[in-house]
Amino acid sequence: MAKQSPGVGPRYPQVVVLFGATGDLARRKLLPGLYHLASAGFIPGWRMIGVSLDAIDAEGFRALARAALEEFGSRKVVAADWQAFAAGLDYVPLTAGAQALRSAVAQAERQIGRECRRLHYLSVPPSAALPAVRLLGEAGLVERSHIVMEKPFGTDLASAVTLNRELHEVFAEDQIFRIDHFLGKEPAQNILAFRFANGLFEPIWNRNFIDHVQIDVPETLGLGQRSAFYEQTGAYRDMVVTHLFQILAFMAMEPPTALEPAPISEEKNKVFRSMLPIEPAQVVRGQYVGYRDEAGVEPESETETFIALKCYIDNWRWAGVPFFLRTGKRLAEGQRIISIAFREPPKSMFPPGSGVGAQGPDHLTFDLADASKMSLSFYGKRPGPGMRLDKLSLQFAMRDTGLAGEVLEAYERLILDAMRGDRTLFTSAEGIERLWQVSTHLLESPPPVRLYPAGSWGPKSIHQLIAPHAWRLPFERAWRDPNQAGS
Ligand code: BG6
Repeated sequence: MAKQSPGVGPRYPQVVVLFGATGDLARRKLLPGLYHLASAGFIPGWRMIGVSLDAIDAEGFRALARAALEEFGSRKVVAADWQAFAAGLDYVPLTAGAQALRSAVAQAERQIGRECRRLHYLSVPPSAALPAVRLLGEAGLVERSHIVMEKPFGTDLASAVTLNRELHEVFAEDQIFRIDHFLGKEPAQNILAFRFANGLFEPIWNRNFIDHVQIDVPETLGLGQRSAFYEQTGAYRDMVVTHLFQILAFMAMEPPTALEPAPISEEKNKVFRSMLPIEPAQVVRGQYVGYRDEAGVEPESETETFIALKCYIDNWRWAGVPFFLRTGKRLAEGQRIISIAFREPPKSMFPPGSGVGAQGPDHLTFDLADASKMSLSFYGKRPGPGMRLDKLSLQFAMRDTGLAGEVLEAYERLILDAMRGDRTLFTSAEGIERLWQVSTHLLESPPPVRLYPAGSWGPKSIHQLIAPHAWRLPFERAWRDPNQAGS
């Protein structure tokens, strides 16, 4: 595997303590991600200690890691890299307690040298997070460490405040990295580049020119093994109060005074402070037909597997501009887009039937798939006699630059940042508490769930929610594929 030059990764070797080491996220993302970071040379020395409730030993953990790389890794496992990786893995069952964890970390530190740092990664459900934090405190592993916390950060305002308070009894805020993997996606960061590295769009990035915004993340996935977790969580807590609102903040924030953690966090928090409370009447909750028959789901479950809502950011830049958010499971397509609809011209001089406005307003669309795509659509003249208009578009795809292979997977990028102590792409206690605060009314009085057939775009009432506009998805015209003749 190509080795990275020093400088992009952390300065110090790292001991990673991974709680939830045998769980779904660890197997799908964290173990393959750490394998890539280690074997590509991003980290100058490391050891990892897996921790979980499973009664396995280091050998068993290595076998599980190997199987995870084979099943979920996007890169081929190279024998020499695997041997080096496997040699760095150790395991401590949770039941062995604080002293056992402490000695495993001490042993790892002797192997890589005292000048190392600790990264505690809590890939555990919310109920297991604080016990793990206390265990780390008891084991004396707080010094020289950063701690990565997985979402959801609480389930409402009160629980988030308690979680943050109890967390702060053990770790200082600047040691805490609340991860939201959508912010680690390359295209999410590209929103910042696009907005603030160019003079072209920022002047029109406001209520005078933008009519409305859609952040749309439909998924075709069902719940697999996750129904027990999901039944307690639902689409709003799983996706909106975390990922979609964070993306919204990048899209809507003012230019930060510097591209650094504190100024970026401050601008994002200003967006959250300006958000109007989410009104239950402007929310559609849905559940796919068949969800209630799944293992681990209540037969009369009211958990939503789909949510669409309208919200407002009541500040100078965005007052009156609706933001429509949608996400759900078992929908017709898997997409992750932000679509910005521009205001239409005040008057049309084009003859009736010319097609002007017939295909919606001009749009700027970001595709948040790992290799970014962007499109700007506008009306142009169809060649030939008369004045017939068609919707045309300028499109960019990262794939065409030949650099798509350089993209770090979201978790890889964020793990590296947490090791380096860079909090730019992480969320703050204040921001998260504010998001729960604007959600209070909705969580207390949720509208009823409406059933939708799997493979659809959600309950029918999504159209009323967005009227007189229309959902951008499904796209009327597919993204252009430059490899296809005639496109
Ligand atoms: C996770 C949610 O955080 O994000 C899942 O818990 C969801 O329910 C996933 O499927 C989507 O992430 P990605 O990176 O596949 O778009």
